Amino acid sequence: MQKLQIGMVVGSLRKDSLNRQLANAIVKLAQEDFSFKFIEIGQLPLYNQDDDDHQTDVVKALKAAIVACDGLIFVSPEYNRSIPGVLKNALDHGSRPPGKNSWGGKPAALIGISPSAVGTAISQQHLRGVLATLDVPTMCQPEMFLQYKEGFFDKNGNFNEGSRDFVKKWVDRFSRWVVTNKS
Ligand code: FNR
Repeated sequence: MQKLQIGMVVGSLRKDSLNRQLANAIVKLAQEDFSFKFIEIGQLPLYNQDDDDHQTDVVKALKAAIVACDGLIFVSPEYNRSIPGVLKNALDHGSRPPGKNSWGGKPAALIGISPSAVGTAISQQHLRGVLATLDVPTMCQPEMFLQYKEGFFDKNGNFNEGSRDFVKKWVDRFSRWVVTNKS
């Protein structure tokens, strides 16, 4: 049976991003269940509605990458109690032009990691609101707010023993979520 194709969207452009490390660890943990593709958002221009009828190639590539997926995982930090602007920019690009929302109908899960105890919870709630507008069914439970501590990832970039099973349960639930909700 063909593996489900999952688009991984990372909400941080930082070179040493914890959320990028988290995304990579999820890929290692779940590569037998899914075929992953990173949907990169760092090269996108700032969204401008004037461009809706002549989207640039990089925007068209973003939209094509989304459409090719069975499901999506958003791995994002929280910035100032909300989602990073780069992620909102990508969501807006993918939603346009009117009637051509590429995100629509793609089952998704949200996850994030932060050094702070707040651990992306508020950002994820904001993201859920935006995704509801975009007709993206987001997995409700289990929620996954991770606090980063030294040693969270091992030297090979895998989850440490303390968190591996915990995240694997979330991955397994997401697998069922995609199968149930994909169009
Ligand atoms: C943050 N950070 C942060 N953390 C948090 O838990 N809640 C927040 O509201 C914010 N706000 C915030 C704003 C801005 C502009 C920055 C740069 C950072 C801290 C953030 O969680 C931390 O820098 C993470 O390491 C960022 O994620 P990456 O880049 O490591 O993936």
